Amino acid sequence: MLEFSLSSDAAADKADTACAVVGVFDGALSPAAAAINAASGGALTRLVESGDFTGKAGATLVLHGLAGVTSPRVLLVGLGREGEIGPQLFARACADAGKALKGLPLTDATTWLPQIDVKDVDADWRVRTCALTIDHACFRYTATLKPGDDAARLKKLVLVAGNAPKAIVQARAIARGVAFARELGCLPPNLCTPTHIAAQAKTIADEHADSVTLKVLERADMEKLGMGALLAVASGSASPPKLIVLEYKGAGDAKPYALVGKGVTFDTGGMNLKPTGSMEEMKYDMCGAAGVLGAFLSAVELKLPINLVCVVPSVENMPDGGGYRPADVLHTHAGITVEVLNTDAEGRLILCDALSYTCKRFQPQALVDAATLTGACVVALGAHASGLFSADDALADELLAAGNDSLDRTWRLPLWDDYRNQLESAFADIANVGGKSAGAVTAALFLSRFTEGTRWAHLDVAGTAWVPGRKGYATGRPVPLLAQWLIDRGS
Ligand code: BES
Ligand code: MN
Ligand code: ZN
Repeated sequence: MLEFSLSSDAAADKADTACAVVGVFDGALSPAAAAINAASGGALTRLVESGDFTGKAGATLVLHGLAGVTSPRVLLVGLGREGEIGPQLFARACADAGKALKGLPLTDATTWLPQIDVKDVDADWRVRTCALTIDHACFRYTATLKPGDDAARLKKLVLVAGNAPKAIVQARAIARGVAFARELGCLPPNLCTPTHIAAQAKTIADEHADSVTLKVLERADMEKLGMGALLAVASGSASPPKLIVLEYKGAGDAKPYALVGKGVTFDTGGMNLKPTGSMEEMKYDMCGAAGVLGAFLSAVELKLPINLVCVVPSVENMPDGGGYRPADVLHTHAGITVEVLNTDAEGRLILCDALSYTCKRFQPQALVDAATLTGACVVALGAHASGLFSADDALADELLAAGNDSLDRTWRLPLWDDYRNQLESAFADIANVGGKSAGAVTAALFLSRFTEGTRWAHLDVAGTAWVPGRKGYATGRPVPLLAQWLIDRGS
């Protein structure tokens, strides 16, 4: 995580920094670039006139040793046409800058990008987004790598902008939550077990012992509570299941908000074993859990004036002689019976017990769950939007707004009763899969049966929580969205 600080009046040509990061429009210099241009006797004008750097969105260029400029490096960042820059383009330029900075052997940089005018947003938004986006681009996973030399890696980022102290404080807290989620998400499944996730929750509780309490329910506790669905998924694994419950008090006796996250530390599919191909990506099947824990951490660091609970059911889904089977009928904590038609639809089985427990125990004023729940959601929305499901229009609108604001966007999909007959079972109250069509909707509908009477929304983050492929990382989504939603609730 980068260390952010604000500077209000640094001149780009005279700044004491290892790299000055300035924007160039397609056809014009930003004020900071113009200052560097003037100090260097027109170096940038000549570059632009030669066509070597055009200021098109996506372009970056590092310049060394410009005469008249104190900083040894200047990083030019293409912004596209002046006056046409919206939030998405601005964030893209910041990401490009971050990518370039990640590759440079320096420890600090200063950016004037937050001074750029962006349609529909204010300076606070620009500072926060610039800080978070550059931090995101510079993330490196290191937990299981040979210790490397990080002496020459970016650590400090100075943002030049007017007065935006709140933006920096929020950026720090959100960056911390995002980094937490990414580290945990990337960690391999032999290390990131339910026990490890519980231990991570304990680090949060210990660090904030004044406002946070932790309870971890063990297998025996869950047996007493009749959580037959959660326990069935855990039955094939040598790793014991955990139900992690964090509580944060920031608002006296007010009803809490609640976050619930799917914490499947590895999803083999169980008896309905997944095919060879990309099973290794199922280490990320705990990213819903990582996301709600990260957002909880952000909220606690910000000391938001709300009460908040975070509930994480964590299990591993393995095939085993003691494992659960297709055709099994499970008794849930809610008293509803479930026929297992596919052991690979395990996320909804652990969530249903966690959701009904959270509703009963805490009577939250609103409950949001996050889960890498269905491949169908990836087919529907790809990597750009998380699926949003809610019967409550106001809650859905709050989450849509928080997603747009944080650029961690969601798109609402239906949760209509019309789909309900797909979950009918002859042998239980409900089946755990709904057939070929509308897989993301029937999964959400399954969950809805366990949240009746509570204002609830479900986020399917299967397409957004990590970047697929060998070198992809966990993204930290939906931490920005949930943190923003909670910030909005507390103001
Ligand atoms: N964890 C998966 C969902 C998933 C699959 C996320 C691929 C990201 C990429 C989930 O547990 C699962 O296996 N879902 C099944 C449900 C089906 C059996 C009804 C799926 O989507 O195929
Ligand atoms: Mn599965
Ligand atoms: Zn899964």
